[in-house]
Amino acid sequence: MQKRIAVLVSGSGSNLEALLAYKPKLPIVLVIADRPCKAADLAEAKGLQVERLYRPHGRFFDRRHYTLRLQRLLFAAEIDLVVMAGFMTMLHAVIFTQFNRRILNVHPSLLPKFKGAHAVRDTLAAGEKWTGSTVQIAKKETDAGVTLAQSREQVRADDTEQTLQERLKKKEHLLYPWVVERYLAQLPEWGNYLGE
Ligand code: GRF
Repeated sequence: MQKRIAVLVSGSGSNLEALLAYKPKLPIVLVIADRPCKAADLAEAKGLQVERLYRPHGRFFDRRHYTLRLQRLLFAAEIDLVVMAGFMTMLHAVIFTQFNRRILNVHPSLLPKFKGAHAVRDTLAAGEKWTGSTVQIAKKETDAGVTLAQSREQVRADDTEQTLQERLKKKEHLLYPWVVERYLAQLPEWGNYLGE
């Protein structure tokens, strides 16, 4: 049986677009968005199954409950690999056990440097000369998984958060789909995996 990918998004969806455009075609069958975003609209326009699992705000947000709902969607679609592409909700630990080694993420810094939501801003503030993006096998501690690949990018003196982010993304668009393809190829199917 062909393995199945879900992509999790929150933002502009440029990585999702690159994943969808990649040849050979990646088996992306589901897109989950945690908020209204361009990425979800783009996926819908391409005829993909999109689940808008918007996260409630403030004290109404129960991380475990949200994660379990998301996990249910993954099970229903028989997902083998979860690809986070600009997904901004920190998920509960429970999913990293259930989908052990089956969640990938891309982050705009040379991890372990500059973890968290403001990596590009923090890179500039620290006066770094070089940066890059990191593809990791995600684990429950944010941006602390096993690194699979990194791109490299020179920081320019006149860079703003936006210009640097844009250049980083251009390389992510080449790197991330390529890593996903290779990672998926070596991933055991669920049946075998559960029997391990
Ligand atoms: C990228 O910079 C990625 O490194 C980070 O979130 C951003 C997603 O951008 N995790 P996009 O929505 O794919 O354009």
